[in-house]
Amino acid sequence: MVKNLSKFKCQNCNFYYSKWAGQCTECGAWSSIKQDDAFSKGQIKKLFSGKRGKTIDLLNLESLENEPKRLKTEINEFDRVLGGGLVPGSAILLSGDPGIGKSTLLLQVATDAADKGANVIYISGEEAPAQIRMRARRLGKEKSTLKIASETNLRDILTTLDAEKVDLLIVDSIQTIYADYIESGPGSVVQVRTCVLDLTNFAKKKDFSIIFVGHVTKDGQIAGPKLVEHMVDTVIHFEGERGVHFRILRTIKNRFGASDEIGVFEMTSKGLKEVTNPSELFLSERDAINNGSVVFASIEGTRPVLVEIQALVAPSSLGTARRTVVGWDSARLSMVIAILDARCGLSFIGKDVYLNVAGGMRVLEPAADLAVAAALLSASNEITLPTNAVIFGELSLSGALRQVNQPDSRIKEAKKLGFKSILIPSGSKIVKQSGIELKEYKTIFDLIKSNTRVSE
Ligand code: TYD
Ligand code: MG
Repeated sequence: MVKNLSKFKCQNCNFYYSKWAGQCTECGAWSSIKQDDAFSKGQIKKLFSGKRGKTIDLLNLESLENEPKRLKTEINEFDRVLGGGLVPGSAILLSGDPGIGKSTLLLQVATDAADKGANVIYISGEEAPAQIRMRARRLGKEKSTLKIASETNLRDILTTLDAEKVDLLIVDSIQTIYADYIESGPGSVVQVRTCVLDLTNFAKKKDFSIIFVGHVTKDGQIAGPKLVEHMVDTVIHFEGERGVHFRILRTIKNRFGASDEIGVFEMTSKGLKEVTNPSELFLSERDAINNGSVVFASIEGTRPVLVEIQALVAPSSLGTARRTVVGWDSARLSMVIAILDARCGLSFIGKDVYLNVAGGMRVLEPAADLAVAAALLSASNEITLPTNAVIFGELSLSGALRQVNQPDSRIKEAKKLGFKSILIPSGSKIVKQSGIELKEYKTIFDLIKSNTRVSE
């Protein structure tokens, strides 16, 4: 393309230049570069070999059809993450670490959708039908009308689908499927791209939804070309800590709904169980002694979730003190530590700092700044926080507190779970609620002043 925009061309080798030069760098010929007249007025048609394209229909927004009717599964947490169910003709990519439960989740989704009368096909390139049947038995779904196949050849899959009426197709995993007319092996960039493109085009044409399982690389990226993420409508990621039974399904991209939604599940011996009130779950094992532990009210997509943030500050035995973070951003932790140092004179030099979001949850909101700062202050015995308190607010580098979005829903959730006081930035626009004590602060320094620990 860039070539066509250039106005100078070597008459010898047809190489294009954006400006004139004495010698062609490609073929070495002298004085061979001449202005290319393909771009002179009237000759532009030459670019298209004189042929005109067809005129495209230009529509107005009103002519768009109504919202498509979504296919809902029995699993609300899954439907929520998709923005309210599967949109016909849409393509979804589900990624996650090996063994996290992708195949289990999709088998549950597939059988539930099939039970509701949808025509669902589950193609596995990783497992034999016997293995899938065994899993279905474990989930108590062996009677489902779901159709399964163990296949990896794209041509055969498309031929089979052409003869079927499909509502939902599951491809587990995209890295195992291959197009036989491409030489490189399954899982290669070109194979993955071709298979996703062909299958999504087919799905759009026949108006069924398709869910691809995508592997992740060692560092947690979705394997294969980044392009695949652009080719599908929705990307969801299944995550969880090893040894923890909770799994979080997180939207990364969604053309048909909010892109920061989460669904929470628990892996049991009979498959994944929905967790309808995640706040209760994340706070269930909270200690009564709250030294270094703070409850933060976060907003995940469309709903509030309370999580416990724990901090530990200990003298360091190493030259460089340790900063370990699980479930939060380590750059933001450094920022909070720097603010406490510069604005409040509290130094963490020579001290190891550990920060953990309990229950395997990952918090991404800056609204957690204040809760993290409070956890650090409480862990280093600077302040004593009221028991039964929930905190949220963003910290600016000056040490001032900034308001965050949806304070009301955060407070409502805290109240629902029996919390009595809320520590927030002053000036937050909220509707007063009975039974809740609001403590508002302008700066982080104010918070320290009002809650300074009184030594016994
Ligand atoms: P799987 O869905 O195969 O993971 P993925 O497809 O992401 O690789 O799930 C694997 C794990 O889940 C495996 O370690 C067994 C466990 N599991 C249960 O604990 N309960 C169950 O009912 C099922 C089906 C699996
Ligand atoms: Mg699997």
